[in-house]
Amino acid sequence: MATVATRAAATVMHRRMCLSPSGCAEGVKSGRSGCRLLTRRLRPGQADRTPSRGCPAGHGVWRGAEWRRETRGQVAIITGGAAGLGLAYARRFLEEGARVLIADIVDPAAAAKELERSGEVHAVRTDVASALSVEAMVDAAVKRFGRIDVLVNNAALFAGLAPTPFEHIEEAEWDRLMAVNVKGVWLCCRAVAPVMKEQRSGRIINIASAIVAKGTPLLMHYVASKGAVIAMTRVLARELGEHGIAVNALAPGLIMSDTARANADLTGFQAPQVIASRAFKREAVADDVVGAAVFLASADSAFITGQTLIVDGGSVFL
Ligand SMILES: NC(=O)c1ccc[n+]([C@@H]2O[C@H](COP(=O)([O-])OP(=O)(O)OC[C@H]3O[C@@H](n4cnc5c(N)ncnc54)[C@H](O)[C@@H]3O)[C@@H](O)[C@H]2O)c1
Repeated sequence: MATVATRAAATVMHRRMCLSPSGCAEGVKSGRSGCRLLTRRLRPGQADRTPSRGCPAGHGVWRGAEWRRETRGQVAIITGGAAGLGLAYARRFLEEGARVLIADIVDPAAAAKELERSGEVHAVRTDVASALSVEAMVDAAVKRFGRIDVLVNNAALFAGLAPTPFEHIEEAEWDRLMAVNVKGVWLCCRAVAPVMKEQRSGRIINIASAIVAKGTPLLMHYVASKGAVIAMTRVLARELGEHGIAVNALAPGLIMSDTARANADLTGFQAPQVIASRAFKREAVADDVVGAAVFLASADSAFITGQTLIVDGGSVFL
């Protein structure tokens, strides 16, 4: 028994394993561990100091007793990255060592300037509801960084919304919201897919909302749009899985981003009930959710796709 355990531990200690959802695209001869990256034996407790290379396809690796996130050097596009939670995702990805393109309909130059302290960032003014604009965003990312590993579909009409009974929502507002929150996700996925397919790897993180599970009143178009994002995530996961691309939805509960906090009408009517409904009875801030996005971009989540990760302090359970 002890021999089996010891052998198993030794195997775990020395193997480095490609974590692509579809396996390593390179298809190079595997070692005993099932991975060509099997190299040298580590002593128990010895950290692997091999430079952070991973497999040539850019997949994560298992090193010794520790998971490496392998976000260092990754290229992430964050839509709606000029303010609010998008800016917080961008900052966190930069801190993790990623290179980041922020895309926003509001000029993202000032945000990029602020983020430069945290790493390599590029800003492109983009309307996610316009196919031409989205294609220009993807071209700019490839031109600047040469690849795209992560797309965070965060852009949406949210913090500026006025709570409105469903009968009184303006048709133009309904159409624009659907164009940004739903069509925008489709257009961005459609534009990055060829790049990620070519790489045989990629992560798409669609920002949904826990509000979908609650039927929160006075935001019917917004709730419907986030329901669509969750549904689209499942289709995309199935259509892109064979190409090594994982697609998941991240569904935060009410988060007091700076932009949301600035709209007292939007947050005021729901915040007390939301907090009361949580297992953790407190307000949530950007730091409560950004780590979940990094997780969904990391090797740690390599076998997760089509899922919705709710980050709401235990308000709704699916
Ligand atoms: N803050 C919350 O409580 C909360 C909860 C759940 C989900 N979310 C989601 O998280 C994301 C960010 O939320 P936030 O609180 O920062 O709100 P926000 O409204 O400040 O963020 C949206 C960002 O998208 C940008 N944007 C809007 N239209 C765009 C377009 N056509 N093209 C490109 N960019 C566009 C905005 O300029 C803004 O920077 C949104 O998808 C929102 O639905 C937020």
